[in-house]
Amino acid sequence: MNKKTLRDVEVRDRRVLVRVDFNVPIQEGRVTDDTRLRAALPTLQYLLDHGAAVILVSHLGRPKGKVVESLRMDPVAARLSELLGRPVRKLDDCVGPQVEEAVAAMQPGDVILLENSRFHPEERANDEAFARRLAALADLYVNDAFGSAHRAHATTEGVARAMRAQGKPAVAGFLMEKELTYLSRATEAPDHPYVVILGGAKVSDKIGVIRNLLTHCDRLLIGGGMANTFFKAQGYAMADSLVEEEAVEDARALLEEAAEKLVLPVDLVIADAFANDARRKTIPVGDVPDGWRVLDIGPQTLERFRDALEGARLVVWNGPMGVFEFPNFAQGTFALARLLAEGDAVTIVGGGDSAAAVNQSGLADRFTHISTGGGASLEFLEGKTLPGVAALDDR
Ligand code: 3PG
Repeated sequence: MNKKTLRDVEVRDRRVLVRVDFNVPIQEGRVTDDTRLRAALPTLQYLLDHGAAVILVSHLGRPKGKVVESLRMDPVAARLSELLGRPVRKLDDCVGPQVEEAVAAMQPGDVILLENSRFHPEERANDEAFARRLAALADLYVNDAFGSAHRAHATTEGVARAMRAQGKPAVAGFLMEKELTYLSRATEAPDHPYVVILGGAKVSDKIGVIRNLLTHCDRLLIGGGMANTFFKAQGYAMADSLVEEEAVEDARALLEEAAEKLVLPVDLVIADAFANDARRKTIPVGDVPDGWRVLDIGPQTLERFRDALEGARLVVWNGPMGVFEFPNFAQGTFALARLLAEGDAVTIVGGGDSAAAVNQSGLADRFTHISTGGGASLEFLEGKTLPGVAALDDR
């Protein structure tokens, strides 16, 4: 990685502003999935062990520049405090006199969590004055929020530039470094045979990823709702299945350009309603009967995918194979997770729904790397520059 990391800078007795991605699910005042908090622990523990005072900042949800009570960071502070085994002081803003006073009184080993940065419209606007105020709080800025690195916002991008303008370092944290190191394997000199598996509802989100990864991989397997658009392009009637009409032309072009690399499902599980208890049956790929829709891949497809994965040394997987939130249509996604968990390949899972599926499958510890970034990992795999990374100090 050509960016400086925590290891390249002095942290002792410094006030360190750490951008984390603590955009986590919260229900009834409790964090229901703390994966992103745990993923930030190596950076936080390192800073605390080396005598830094830690000021954390994150967004939570999309409050549109206003205070939204249900999106306050208090439940996050409570859970983080349990994980760190020390107090985490949560403030009610992320800039302003209360924050400046609290930060000025910090001692090494103290942890402060600032309020949701998106309560200020300046965050998404990447406002320079707002970024300068954040930068003024600290001696060092660490970006460990890989999941938000595709956003050019004040806490992810503007603040790094503001730090530099104030003569202070802006570096990557350990989670950021780990994410970039693993995901780079997908796009920079990957091991072969290299198989990419893409799923999820929308093909339009992934055209750029498909095009970029096709130049690196040996086979690209497609499942999930996005396969429907390819079937439509092949001339099949898809009845009530999700099809993106505006992406049919792209799908047709990909089928022509990359026929020898693309592997599509050969059988499908269809349902007569979008519900877990809908009637279901498995059909070979072909016309879907009126009133029915595709909700999962079938067993023959899994066999086909097993063959395509044979001997693979690197597998990158992004997007579920069906509507795995419905147990009756989760078979394809979980069977694929098992297939990958049992193989010898290095397995890298893009974040978002596929990470959630792997976590639910109970096999997460059998994967090499599960990204904490959904949109960010897709943009990275598409070959785009992530603004939150680009803004950090070069080595
Ligand atoms: C995510 O959960 O993907 C990140 O935290 C980014 O959130 P956003 O899509 O609201 O910017």
